[in-house]
Amino acid sequence: MRRLAAPLFLLVCGIWAACGKGSEPAIVAPESTSTEYRGLKDAAPYPVGVALQASRLESVPRNGLVEKVFSSVTAEYEMKMEPLSTGPGQYAWDAVDRLVDYAEARNMQVHGHTLVWHQTTPAWLENFAGDDAAFEEAVRVYITDVVTRYRGRVISWDVVNEAFEDGTGALRNSAFRRRMGDDYLERVFQMARDADPSVLLFYNDYGSIWDEAKKTAILDMVDRFQTNDVPLDGVGLQMHVTYNSPPLENITDMMNELVRRGLKIHMSELDIRANPDGDLTTLTAARSEAQKARVKAIVGAFNDLPEANRFAITLWGLLDPDSWLIEFWGNPEWPLLFDSQFRPKPAYFGFLEALEERS
Ligand code: G3I
Repeated sequence: MRRLAAPLFLLVCGIWAACGKGSEPAIVAPESTSTEYRGLKDAAPYPVGVALQASRLESVPRNGLVEKVFSSVTAEYEMKMEPLSTGPGQYAWDAVDRLVDYAEARNMQVHGHTLVWHQTTPAWLENFAGDDAAFEEAVRVYITDVVTRYRGRVISWDVVNEAFEDGTGALRNSAFRRRMGDDYLERVFQMARDADPSVLLFYNDYGSIWDEAKKTAILDMVDRFQTNDVPLDGVGLQMHVTYNSPPLENITDMMNELVRRGLKIHMSELDIRANPDGDLTTLTAARSEAQKARVKAIVGAFNDLPEANRFAITLWGLLDPDSWLIEFWGNPEWPLLFDSQFRPKPAYFGFLEALEERS
């Protein structure tokens, strides 16, 4: 899209948004929104990503802002098995193709999320009628078809998401575990590697920065993978944090464990709850400043990692109203870097300051 002068660009956005076909309310950026601030991607020595949904690219456009600020895209939903795999060997490629095309048109890289997740296993596989061998072959076909289709276009994949139970670190008793056995993780990572010898393969999870049992389970998995030459390039720490928890040292401790193992680290789903206790009905200046300080500290800790271990930082959404947290927790929430009017919040400038002040 040819870059328009800021006011005209915002007017176009507003008209387009107001006419958006999607089910979402039109979010209109006011004329006053300045775009005269530095994009994170221009200040960062590593990719800075954003989770997007294909439906939001047309109905309530984010364009202009996305490519100004970010250099990577993660599909928030459409690349998961449940929306993508409509049946054995049947795929809803369109939305994924649109997201990948969107990113490529803006010179943005694409992180694939996620091949295997117990929460988005399609019914046809969850209730698979065939025997275990046929189940595993169906998984292999799926991973091979998806990874092969986007070979060279999707540079990294969350191969498995959230395999371990909260609090115990036990392996979740998913259909994959029940039908393929406790070593299904090793097998699906190898399937992804067989489909693309150069794509970066990640394990992605939440909780290792506050749940010792899950942290141990993930690190034990990494050690087992490395002992047995199972392909694994990095770990995604989802980073669904609040403005004041967990302690930064928990985050740096987990990252240092991964650095010791030579892995790339992806802060893969960063959002920063400003209202975890539901004490606010609007985002106060004080809480916004606390959110800013938190973002600056987290990005600063990531900047301090060795370059080889810094994969990317990805925000789990663009505008505050986009966030999954609002419906999930039922509180008013402002967890991202941009407000509903496309304006950068203090948290945005906390991220930028951490980048510009890094040693
Ligand atoms: O797009 C369809 C729409 O066509 C349909 O009418 C509507 C009614 O069901 O559903 C819409 O899909 C929803 C989708 O988000 C897009 O909005 C799904 O129901 C809903 O389950 C899905 O939620 C996503 C969730 O993962 C489950 O896939 C959230 O947006 C997304 O933020 C969340 O992200 C996860 C990460 O993948 C893994 N880590 C945790 C994180 C938060 O749960």
